[in-house]
Amino acid sequence: MWKGNRGNEFMSTMGQVDQTQAGAHSITKLKVLVIAGARPNFMKVAPFLQAAKAHNQRLQGSGTEVECRLVHTGQHYDEKMSDVFFRELGIGKPDVNLEVGSGSHAVQTATIMIKFEPVCLEYKPDWLVVVGDVNSTLACTLVAKKLGINVAHIEAGLRSYDRAMPEEINRLVTDSISDLFLTPSPDADENLLKEGIPREKIVLVGNIMIDSLVTNLKQASASKILEKVGAKAKEFVFVTLHRPSNVDDKASLSRIMEELRRLSERLPIVFSMHPRTCKMLETFGIDGSSNPRFQIIEPVGYHDSLCLARNARLVLTDSGGLQEETTYFQTPCLTLRQNTERPITVTLGSNKLTNVSQLRADLNTVFEGVPLKCQIPPLWDGNTGVRCIEAILQHPARVAKA
Ligand code: UD1
Ligand code: UDP
Repeated sequence: MWKGNRGNEFMSTMGQVDQTQAGAHSITKLKVLVIAGARPNFMKVAPFLQAAKAHNQRLQGSGTEVECRLVHTGQHYDEKMSDVFFRELGIGKPDVNLEVGSGSHAVQTATIMIKFEPVCLEYKPDWLVVVGDVNSTLACTLVAKKLGINVAHIEAGLRSYDRAMPEEINRLVTDSISDLFLTPSPDADENLLKEGIPREKIVLVGNIMIDSLVTNLKQASASKILEKVGAKAKEFVFVTLHRPSNVDDKASLSRIMEELRRLSERLPIVFSMHPRTCKMLETFGIDGSSNPRFQIIEPVGYHDSLCLARNARLVLTDSGGLQEETTYFQTPCLTLRQNTERPITVTLGSNKLTNVSQLRADLNTVFEGVPLKCQIPPLWDGNTGVRCIEAILQHPARVAKA
């Protein structure tokens, strides 16, 4: 079952609590399974894995080694939705790939659970680390908790308060059974406290996506995507849309595409199209043709995406991650949604919620250069991965003290 570059090492330590005695020194091993399944997960697990590696390298004969094993559920599987991120983020191959693929929510969630349980039974981790709010996050949390494994949720506590969003269900269920809540912003702490989560289990660590952004700024600056699409810095709109509320309804998707075509007469558009959106355009028979002012392109890699988000005059999106990245870059962002689980990107950052009816007026405001709020939230500083490792290591002490 185990594949990739960490497999052999894993087999030799499986199921043991290693105590390497060297004179007075001793190393205790903490075994951690880390889950990634869909595009927005890869840039969240990379900093955690890097921080664990750096922590282990600093150990000098005594302390706790954090041994990580990466499981890719295979929820996303296209080269442009998955492999490219492993390469660009330097994660290396996952230790195991469950290869679950696409399906209905029930099929996908259940398949992940069935395939993930034996991985837990074999490796016997001390901790499961999950990120974000996708089906893989929920499925693996359920499996681990029923096996008595501790779960740390990175990006815990975010709430849109919209239960029509599949992600909101995933967030609520994951947070109702996790053991350690690693939050990106104070609003998340408040949500968790309101839900009765004990204070000592919540640690405000900051935004882990920003760790990846900061680490990859140089590569993003070297991206050739602007030349490739013939776009000039600050003279184009970067669009990404994939939420079912926008793209799974024919009337909604038609109207959005019409508005975008109209907008492209004013400012060129680069629309990196998610496979769900592509599929729905085809299903509904909506015109998805590209032209030099309205370019529909396949999903781009991480460095290209950062480059587009940083250099756009405006980002129009329904992506969670892009709301955060534009806040960091201070690029104006219009989010085509009724709500956001990331309110700090609106209260402090450069994000504003919009809808199709209001879009033209909101675009005018941006093009007229009305200044937006442009603060980077506290702890979105590139060091969240390190704080996550520290929080896991300190967890027993924090909980015992309470
Ligand atoms: C998922 C997440 C969503 C996240 C998004 C990030 C859930 C419930 N949703 O939505 O929170 O914002 O990922 O991109 O977990 N497809 C491909 N190739 C792939 C992957 C998907 O063609 O590599 C197509 C398939 O037709 C599939 C559809 O996209 O049915 C939707 O994929 P799915 O993973 O079910 O949901 P996303 O919309 O990607
Ligand atoms: N992203 C990317 N290529 C694209 C579109 C997005 O690399 O074509 C990156 C983006 O920069 C961010 C992450 O994917 O880091 C966001 O993922 P997505 O929008 O798929 O999911 P969400 O954040 O909405 O859950």
